Amino acid sequence: MLILNLKTYPESTAEKSVEIAQIIQNYQTENPQNSKLIHIAPSVLDIEILKRDFSELNIVSQNVDAVTQGASTGWIPVEELIELGVEISLYNHSEHRRFMGAIVDEIKKIQSKGMRLIVCCETIDEAKTILEANPYAIAYEPKDLIGSGVSVTTRPEIVKEFIKAVKDSALPIIGAGVASGTDIVTALELGAKGVLVSSAFVQSEDKLGKLQEFMMAF
Ligand code: G3P
Repeated sequence: MLILNLKTYPESTAEKSVEIAQIIQNYQTENPQNSKLIHIAPSVLDIEILKRDFSELNIVSQNVDAVTQGASTGWIPVEELIELGVEISLYNHSEHRRFMGAIVDEIKKIQSKGMRLIVCCETIDEAKTILEANPYAIAYEPKDLIGSGVSVTTRPEIVKEFIKAVKDSALPIIGAGVASGTDIVTALELGAKGVLVSSAFVQSEDKLGKLQEFMMAF
């Protein structure tokens, strides 16, 4: 699985998110055999329009909150995402960290409402704590490599340790600094079942070419 995290870059929000969705949809139409592997995590402000105009895309939320729908100003209740047809969300991303002391209960609460979580971690110890909540997936992203262009796969020993700790209970995903198809090949060889990518895709002048390069790895 390839997860393209669009974050909130100017190159990937509002009308740019629509352009990116169109590129992905075109790719999927021409390559139906692996189109299910591609997931896109747009800014939450863009989810509704993308769901409406690109109903075939696999849309992942960048975040969701363990709140009750109703009196929860500014938070993202699970119910609203599910209503929009979004059933997978990132959680505890390095750029949106949660309190580790509460994270197990929060994950359980969110998943009990039908949302599958890809919970991010920065260390193996965090992954082990998160595993207690039985999340759908855990994504290892070393903070110092995010946006660096230096791939997480340049640290194969810790990646292997992470995958070994997680693989029997949750989908092991890795990300941070992934910049090329070769990085994705290495990630899959190390045992990752998914790869999170952001800046190398969002800031590419040729997004279709970059997507093709990434997808060649699968
Ligand atoms: O969620 C993916 C992300 O944090 C990695 O970012 O820019 O290093 O691909 P980037």
